[in-house]
Amino acid sequence: MWSRDFLFGAATAAYQIEGAVHADGRHPSIWDAFCLVPGTVHNGDSGEVACDHYNRWETDLQLLVDLGFDAYRFSVSWTRVMNVDGTPNHRGLDFYKRLIEQLERRGLQRFLTLYHWDLPQHLQDRGGWLSRDTSFRFAEYADLLSRELTGGVNAWTTLNEPYCSAYLGHATGRHAPGMKCVQYAVDAMHHLLLGHGVASAAIRANDKAPIGLVSNVNAVVPKSNSAADAHAATLAYAHANTWVLDPLLLGTYPAELKELWPGVAAPVRAGDMAAIATRMDYLGINYYFRAQVQADAAAGYVEVPMDGVEHTQMGWVVYPAGLRDLLTEFKHRYPGLPPIYITENGMASDDKVVDGRVGDEQRLRYLNSHIAAVDQAMRSGVQVKGYFAWSLLDNFEWSYGYEKRFGVVHVDYATQRRTPKDSALAMKAFLERRRRGA
Ligand code: FCB
Repeated sequence: MWSRDFLFGAATAAYQIEGAVHADGRHPSIWDAFCLVPGTVHNGDSGEVACDHYNRWETDLQLLVDLGFDAYRFSVSWTRVMNVDGTPNHRGLDFYKRLIEQLERRGLQRFLTLYHWDLPQHLQDRGGWLSRDTSFRFAEYADLLSRELTGGVNAWTTLNEPYCSAYLGHATGRHAPGMKCVQYAVDAMHHLLLGHGVASAAIRANDKAPIGLVSNVNAVVPKSNSAADAHAATLAYAHANTWVLDPLLLGTYPAELKELWPGVAAPVRAGDMAAIATRMDYLGINYYFRAQVQADAAAGYVEVPMDGVEHTQMGWVVYPAGLRDLLTEFKHRYPGLPPIYITENGMASDDKVVDGRVGDEQRLRYLNSHIAAVDQAMRSGVQVKGYFAWSLLDNFEWSYGYEKRFGVVHVDYATQRRTPKDSALAMKAFLERRRRGA
């Protein structure tokens, strides 16, 4: 049985839901700029309107309450709360203050992410995460936010998924700022992680709530039993998982990266690794799928499709045991592993409202099986303190635009009507049973 201390929540991110990109002094982020580049985002979509959450936040908060969640994970738009000259923008800050105050009043815990990929464009113009200076600009933002919001937040997250910011943003070009160079990705990763370190110190000076970072992790399986494919899998595992986790929890980059990217090295200066490996009060884990890989002479490894297994609308392989296995592997690899929150887990499906209902039974199975996998990991000794479904709402799914629906609540973008899907109603029933101790 799930104890009342274990938090069940739902997650969102600012640019994916808020819209109102010009309201109250908000200035552009790299995602506003990226969406304007033809061919970057499916259907030419952008976050300009999204779920209009900036204006409808009270409705969305009521959904969280009605569905019975214990906690809400959301992110702050840096460009709403801090002016270009570094001074606070109180109109933007007030939005988050009101949200936090009302969440608290309704008994929901607040998990606040500072950076869910929306770097101010004016910092990008000065080099973005390729510039070491951005780490310190990030710490200034963290300082501002933790002073302004002190006492209102239950857990601070510095960065969401630095892998995506660094690699998808700077090596594959699929995400903002759309660059395509591995050395850039490695530089960006280092400055993101350094930013986490210096921002953590800034927050700690202002507020007592736990501080952590959220990383996405993948299960990896080799295509064959060959030694070459097994080795390819270790390279893929390092790329996807330990590139972020080793510096944070061991203070070093994994050795496999040298083999994966010969001649490419992170711009490490004296003291950086200690700053990056600063104490984390918790680790946030986002888990979605398992990847199958095989050896590749040029790239070290390549991902290959898996047949005969369940996929989601994203083409991602459904593999709940991977979440259990990764958690137990991390417990062994990292002696100082802090408590874990599953900060995102969920899937996209082509959901439609029919007679007022959304029958998303694949999602329901997906969520149940992954929650069961978390339970198994806990039984084998991993400390997990909460689970957040991605996402509360259908929303702007980055380069996929609005086509991919991850919400437990359906959003009709033409009318902005919200309809809880069957998965949300099942979650609500489950949380009610838990509350009654049944
Ligand atoms: C994660 C992101 C989140 C969402 C989900 C599907 O990588 O953190 O914003 O896009 O994937």
